[in-house]
Amino acid sequence: MSNIFDNIVELPNKGIQERTKNLVGFDSKFDRIFSNLKLLLDQEGLIEWSKKFHKVELPIISQLQEKYPLIILSGDAGTGKTISAEAIADRMMRELKKDGFFLKLSTRVRGEGLHGQMGNLVNDAFSELKNQAGKRRIAFLLIDEADAIASTRSTIQMHQEEKAAVNTLIQKIDELRELNGRAILFMSTNRLHFLDEAIIRRAAIILEFERPNFDERKQLFESSVGEIGLTDKELETLAELTGEKHNDNLAFSFSDIRLRVLPEAVSKCFPSKALDFKSIKETIIQLKPSPKII
Ligand SMILES: Nc1ncnc2c1ncn2[C@@H]1O[C@H](COP(=O)(O)OP(=O)(O)OP(=O)(O)O)[C@@H](O)[C@H]1O
Ligand SMILES: [Mg+2]
Repeated sequence: MSNIFDNIVELPNKGIQERTKNLVGFDSKFDRIFSNLKLLLDQEGLIEWSKKFHKVELPIISQLQEKYPLIILSGDAGTGKTISAEAIADRMMRELKKDGFFLKLSTRVRGEGLHGQMGNLVNDAFSELKNQAGKRRIAFLLIDEADAIASTRSTIQMHQEEKAAVNTLIQKIDELRELNGRAILFMSTNRLHFLDEAIIRRAAIILEFERPNFDERKQLFESSVGEIGLTDKELETLAELTGEKHNDNLAFSFSDIRLRVLPEAVSKCFPSKALDFKSIKETIIQLKPSPKII
């Protein structure tokens, strides 16, 4: 059973907290999600609150259960969907002072699975999610690249078994509501329009991820390599060079900068000289942003 997940991480988690610190623009995304979901996530607290101030459990509390604990993360490749899912889960647990588990459905297992087994995989994943969701413990499941599983049933080419798997998934999402906010599902996709309409309709929130803008690129360079002594002007030049204007209307993504530009610039300098503005600048000019996924 456990091998259908890439990893099972206990929350809160120090490593995730450290990684979150380096995520540009994370706070505003988190605030949006948290204000949307905190009532759903803390139904125990809500009941206590209601009894304390109103002596009864107000009917509105049970009505909250009609909301689906589903968060869709949508956006182009390398814009931070996968890394943000665990960051959001971790921060939620810190805010609510609860413990949690983060399960990530393995894409490897999914790739191996024959069409007819997709339904079983979905069943197994959700039954483990339910097992992990305890009284004071919230379980999170991430279905990454969800369009591969949950693509719209309206396409004619779709196999009967694939349609059945999407139906199963929808049914499982419906059942999650019975757990009163103790299980949360994230689905990421870079092709939102391929996701099944019934799934999109159930999302409590659809969070859009974009390639970084000028200020975010500047911030990314500053937080990653600012300490080599880059001036404000130089940081702006790097942000400019990785922007739309210099690259056929398509900016570098977060991962283009973090995982391609900067490592390559470092490898140009290591071990003989210090990393400098010039090496980073030259690397950018030699590279192109990753193509946009449509
Ligand atoms: N907001 C951000 N701030 C800083 N770095 C970021 C941010 N978002 C993403 N990154 C960097 O980009 C890398 C890729 O992010 P991630 O894997 O989450 O992208 P993704 O949207 O899931 O892409 P894909 O659609 O290809 O799966 C991360 O490892 C991180 O280094
Ligand atoms: Mg991803």
